[in-house]
Amino acid sequence: MPVANPQSHYLSRTTLISLIVLTLAIFTTTTTTNLLPRLGLLLSHLSGTTTTTTTTTGTMTSIYARELEIAQLAVQRAAILTKRVFHEKAKGTVSKDDKSPVTIGDFGAQALIIAALRHSFPHDAIVAEEEAAQLREDAPLREQIWQLVRETKLDDVAAEGLLGGSVRDVDEMLEVLDRGASEGGRVGRVWTLDPIDGTKGFLRGGQYALALALLEDGDVKVGVLGCPNLPVDDAAPLAADIGANQTDDEGRGVIFSAVIGQGATSRPLRTGALAEGKRIRMKEVEDLASASFCESVEAGHSNQSESAQIAQKLGITKPSVRMDSQAKYGSIARGAGDIYLRLPTSKTYQEKIWDHAAGDLIVREAGGQVTDTKGNRLDFGVGRTLATNSGVIAAPAAVHGKVLEAVQEVLKLK
Ligand SMILES: *[C@@H]1O[C@H](CO)[C@@H](O)[C@H](O)[C@H]1NC(C)=O
Ligand SMILES: *[C@@H]1O[C@H](CO)[C@@H](O)[C@H](O)[C@H]1NC(C)=O
Repeated sequence: MPVANPQSHYLSRTTLISLIVLTLAIFTTTTTTNLLPRLGLLLSHLSGTTTTTTTTTGTMTSIYARELEIAQLAVQRAAILTKRVFHEKAKGTVSKDDKSPVTIGDFGAQALIIAALRHSFPHDAIVAEEEAAQLREDAPLREQIWQLVRETKLDDVAAEGLLGGSVRDVDEMLEVLDRGASEGGRVGRVWTLDPIDGTKGFLRGGQYALALALLEDGDVKVGVLGCPNLPVDDAAPLAADIGANQTDDEGRGVIFSAVIGQGATSRPLRTGALAEGKRIRMKEVEDLASASFCESVEAGHSNQSESAQIAQKLGITKPSVRMDSQAKYGSIARGAGDIYLRLPTSKTYQEKIWDHAAGDLIVREAGGQVTDTKGNRLDFGVGRTLATNSGVIAAPAAVHGKVLEAVQEVLKLK
């Protein structure tokens, strides 16, 4: 005869009680329109999974809604600072070869973004490009950056309130900057940040981006790219001179964003609350010969003679559009361009995760595929670099295979 197990009997009774309590709680707070998400909450409670960061908007439950909102507001605030530095540079107050504007913009934007992440997600790790060591040695530079950081606020009180203020003093600013020193990896929540992606573009007055992404267990879940110098209009064609002589005047400045499984969006870059977003999709490419290519301005970042051979193999006749930063990912995601190639120029160079994470998700959520030149997905879970990948190929999913084939033929990987 089977012996009743008092332990399991006890457990099933507590489960039953917790079920009843939860059910009561749910039905007392529910309205019929949001019954489904609440039932989902009940089910996930019973199966033992956690449902953190779930908010209910209307009848739809959207995961990572809070992360997305904070990330975009943080990028928007930091862009106020980078734009200010960009303008001061454009006025010629610093010499052309002086790297200091980019240093100031980089540190200032990183401090503002990490301060916002720390406030809302205090337990998350952060992999950011800069560390404060240089500022600890350089008092005038430190002071200059602190002045900018303390003055930079969103001009919408509620939005600024969501970010929880920035930092109180210089020491806290240094401490915040150093929070970006995580080694990354395959476990847990890790934000990855490039405060000014495309430093050369920033200096030459071309394209740059503020790039922020959330990885969870090595997978990109949320991606945000602030591109102050790109046209707001998703339909604006890519001008040949997009990589230089640009402004952030009226009609410029866009935020691209994506959440895993929820598509990609663009919205005008504002200085206060977030603007309304619009869904973006990559352009359908029926004939690769009519496609357009984006690549880096810097010959050292991607082999331009090989990309010309690849274009030729695919029958592409339009000249490639060259611009700096992940503005390339954003541009193809909204159909302003079609293909982004980054071909390795050295066997040993490892791409940094902050240079690709946001763009990778935005392109994939807009209907694209992103791999390296071997055809593998980019692996953001191996540390601060994409140590196991080589180069990047981003294209509409339907033609990615053909582009990859041409790349592999030219690079003699087959
Ligand atoms: C940018 O402007 C400068 C000066 O007007 C000009 O020499 C240069 O060719 C321009 N660059 C591009 C890419 O249009
Ligand atoms: C680009 O690739 C060609 C071979 O296809 C090579 O000769 C050249 O050195 C490469 N350039 C750079 C900058 O890596």
